Amino acid sequence: MTPEEFRAAAHELVDWIADYRATLADRPVQAQVEPGEVAGKLPSAPPRSPEPFDAVLKDLDDVVVPGLTLNQHPRYFGWFPSNATLSSVLGDLATSGLGALGITWQSAPALTEVEEVVVEWLRELTGLPATWKGTIHDTASTAALVAMLAARERATGFSETAGGLQAEPAPLTVYTTEQAHSSVVKAVALAGFGSGNLRLVETDPRTRAMVPQSLADAIAKDVAAGNRPAAIVASVGTTGTTAIDPLAEIIPIAREHGIWVHVDAAMAGSALLLPEMRWMVDGLDGADSLSWNPHKWMGTVLDCALFYVADPEHLVRVMSTNPSYLRSTVDGSVTQYKDWGIPLGRRFRALKLWFQLRLDGVAEIQARLRRDLANARWLADQVEAAPGWRVLAPVPLQTVCLRYEPEGMDAEALDEHTLAWADAVNASGAAFVTPSKLDGRWMVRVSIGALPTEHSDVAFVWDVLRRTAEKH
Ligand SMILES: Cc1ncc(COP(=O)(O)O)c(C=O)c1O
Repeated sequence: MTPEEFRAAAHELVDWIADYRATLADRPVQAQVEPGEVAGKLPSAPPRSPEPFDAVLKDLDDVVVPGLTLNQHPRYFGWFPSNATLSSVLGDLATSGLGALGITWQSAPALTEVEEVVVEWLRELTGLPATWKGTIHDTASTAALVAMLAARERATGFSETAGGLQAEPAPLTVYTTEQAHSSVVKAVALAGFGSGNLRLVETDPRTRAMVPQSLADAIAKDVAAGNRPAAIVASVGTTGTTAIDPLAEIIPIAREHGIWVHVDAAMAGSALLLPEMRWMVDGLDGADSLSWNPHKWMGTVLDCALFYVADPEHLVRVMSTNPSYLRSTVDGSVTQYKDWGIPLGRRFRALKLWFQLRLDGVAEIQARLRRDLANARWLADQVEAAPGWRVLAPVPLQTVCLRYEPEGMDAEALDEHTLAWADAVNASGAAFVTPSKLDGRWMVRVSIGALPTEHSDVAFVWDVLRRTAEKH
């Protein structure tokens, strides 16, 4: 494809995207395909000669879009918001168009330095400690893994440079709660701690947040048994119910034992852009790392996870490699982001953040987050007031966990009923919610915060939920 051919096709594609976004509300929210249907519509081999661009666009319409659950839809209330602001889409296009190679500072100085500046802007905007430094990873899952690797190396005095964990004299233990995201469990396993050394600390049955005394007890028990507590992963905004672990009490316990504290604020981090929500991270000073995803509620197109650390020198020591072909004359005086994470080659991800912040402005993002918080409070009030309905967890953010509990149903019948009506809502295409388990029983999460979701959409979904559940 020549630049001129690109120009023509790209204009068409941009028009297609703009039309797609403008008409999203008229489409069903849940993907409309059976397993294998999309693959069955594709040829078994790629074309030998070029196809016209129109044919590709037609397949986007006919094959791809029906195979998507539309998380940009105003009545998407699933999992967590996964917004893709068009301002950040432009930045992502610029990233691809530039095709820069982020392997060292030298390979693309602007890639490194825009990232440094934008990550610092966001540190300041979210009120994180002034001395912390950050980088951009693809996902919070990667950030959790990097945090666990850094924790492991601190606890072992850099075992990676000798016999690794295999040479350690006693097991290293990690602490989180059963409400933590599955990526935490995965990171602990992949970092070599072993799932058997992960302690799921008790949570408060009302708030679902970690109970600090239980954490202290679990650590004391491990120390007495000769184990070596190495890391705590605290969640600020759990996936199930958006519970917030009390950092102000957890971090002093960690400090007593020199334990690494990683804070997973993947979803809730966006709310730190609102000064009135910073209470969520009260006591954060003294933690070691924190990650959050602009690619969730804030709306930077996937993938974009911020990862901040209190001690970048430690991280670099754990992650750095210095092959001769990556040497340059500025080594030692510039940031080399290859030494802050796992991949060598990095995308210019900072551009989509930079575009979003510049083209939308912080005030607009803040207003949208406040809108969503108010809508969640409104929905929780409606649910509380409706006979037979219950809100099952506090609503500090934008997700409401609810259940319709008609009289006379035992727990199993209620589970079946809940799943049946939630699946019916999703199958209707009118709205999309997530059934999920809490205390072993099915409930429904209504996670508000898609970009175009207004109060009227929340009122609409509440009406759909009531009508569907109460007639089932
Ligand atoms: C609390 C929490 N942590 C981590 C993750 C994983 O995020 P990612 O998809 O960026 O790996 C999620 C995803 O929803 C989450 O809710």
